[in-house]
Amino acid sequence: MRLTRTSDLWWKNAVVYCLDVETYQDGNGDGIGDFAGLTQRIDHLVRLGVTCVWLMPFYPTRERDDGYDITDFYGVDPRLGTLGDFTEFVRTARDRGIRVIADLVVNHTSEEHPWFKDARSGRDSTHRDWYVWKDQPPPDGPQGVVFPDAEDSLWEYDKGSGQYYLHRFYKQQPDLNVTHPEVRDEITRIMGFWTELGLSGFRVDAVPFLLETDGQSDAKELPDPHEYLADLRAFLGRRNGESVLLGEVNLPYDATARFFGDPSSDRGDELTMCFDFIAMQRMYLSMARHDARPLAAALRERPEPPRDAHWATFVRNHDELTLDKLSDDERAEVFASFGPDKDMQLYDRGLRRRLPPMVDGDRRRVELAYSLLFTLPGTPVLFYGEELGMGENLAAQGRQAVRTPMQWTPQKAAGFSTADPATFPNPLVDGAFSPQKINVYEQSRDPASLLSRMRLFIERYRETPELAWGDYRLLTTGQDAVLAHVCRAGDGTVLAVHNFADRPHTVRLELTDAEPGGRMTDLLDEAHTGLKADEDGMFHVDLPPYGYRWLRVGTPADDPESIVPR
Ligand code: GLC
Ligand code: CA
Repeated sequence: MRLTRTSDLWWKNAVVYCLDVETYQDGNGDGIGDFAGLTQRIDHLVRLGVTCVWLMPFYPTRERDDGYDITDFYGVDPRLGTLGDFTEFVRTARDRGIRVIADLVVNHTSEEHPWFKDARSGRDSTHRDWYVWKDQPPPDGPQGVVFPDAEDSLWEYDKGSGQYYLHRFYKQQPDLNVTHPEVRDEITRIMGFWTELGLSGFRVDAVPFLLETDGQSDAKELPDPHEYLADLRAFLGRRNGESVLLGEVNLPYDATARFFGDPSSDRGDELTMCFDFIAMQRMYLSMARHDARPLAAALRERPEPPRDAHWATFVRNHDELTLDKLSDDERAEVFASFGPDKDMQLYDRGLRRRLPPMVDGDRRRVELAYSLLFTLPGTPVLFYGEELGMGENLAAQGRQAVRTPMQWTPQKAAGFSTADPATFPNPLVDGAFSPQKINVYEQSRDPASLLSRMRLFIERYRETPELAWGDYRLLTTGQDAVLAHVCRAGDGTVLAVHNFADRPHTVRLELTDAEPGGRMTDLLDEAHTGLKADEDGMFHVDLPPYGYRWLRVGTPADDPESIVPR
């Protein structure tokens, strides 16, 4: 592997870490996380091995949708600090080798945004056409509504101006009209602004909704939405060549892959990365069934992204853990295993739980999931607190259950703030996953902790270029419960084996790539070396219940230089 390629295409082996400034670290003692606090915690991210922070929305907001309802795209919510604090954070992160990206939420604004206030002030107002209006809503009813607990239509009547406006999400989030040239200009201005302040790209919110033009009367005369996305990417590339667009597209694989760019051109000129919602959901089905096949089937179906693009893989994100792409029966199975109470479920399609409580704190199952995250092809994206095995607080509203304050210390306020926890934006976790049991301070000092294991995963992942850069294929294991895949790059070959069962398994694996009599080195366990192929060229790999192995195959194992990217 040429080193220039690995650093130019930095996202391919990045470790992305999503956090909400509001719940990460309070720096001024008012009970609310802020940029000053986050900047103080940079060492934690450095030690973990994070290479890119994704900031959830930190802009001025009405807090109707936890910051995803923005009232000013060019500012910082005063509760979180100032533009100066933001810039200090980005500068500090970059100094420590961490790039920063942020949510770009331009499908909609808050209803309190000055543009919408002007738009609804009258049909002739300057910003009227920046939003999508209709005299009569289509007879679709609740179809397509994202928050079915609160909304029963995509259209809301505006009394003052006598028309209905489109809102994909809450009615307090009117959709912008991206077919309007001025809106398009404004979106590039927003991207340009934050790029100038040091961001290395964006996590693009709700991409298919942003691009949809169905509601717009003159949509037919407009260029293909994918051309628009390619324009945005080109614009960003002109401003800063290393920038990425990490897109939220939760559609079937073929439809999602279309957002990497025109498949016939192999150019990959739209989103740099798309979240892999399908493999994520199938992983939970595999875990529930103790059967690797649902995940394996997803990986077989998954289209290869264009050369420089990548899937983004994750165990859970900041929203409900959506299971919307499973069949009703499959979803019911996952609910039964991991979230049987109604209160653990959200919108009938997902879970408002984090993984460790779902598996009753079983370390083996938690490690299995993260071992998959760091070995399956795709850029791993962590949600803050996953590195510790944080749990959720079901007493918090809806999705807020998994957005509780970061747990730094065993103290009452978790080291998150010096203020009274009653003033925190979300309640702390209590019970078995409370800060007293799960915190950075203690886990940092314990080589056997989950945090130490995650640091090891990340270190190995970063020094094993085959995982991020290689071609990969699934191997036949002869055991339904065991997933084995092999990654190759240059003359390096790495094998990863995962046992979804609660009992041990031995698998026999045939590696066409391995030299007869070749050796394997365990990348995670130095004591465990000298695995050799049999006479017949087959490797026997023993796996404990929920066990996993990362194995380097063949001659490079003997070569201490083999971990250096080639
Ligand atoms: C995306 C975000 C979600 C937000 C929604 C509306 O789905 O992930 O958190 O509520 O967009 O902006
Ligand atoms: Ca604060």
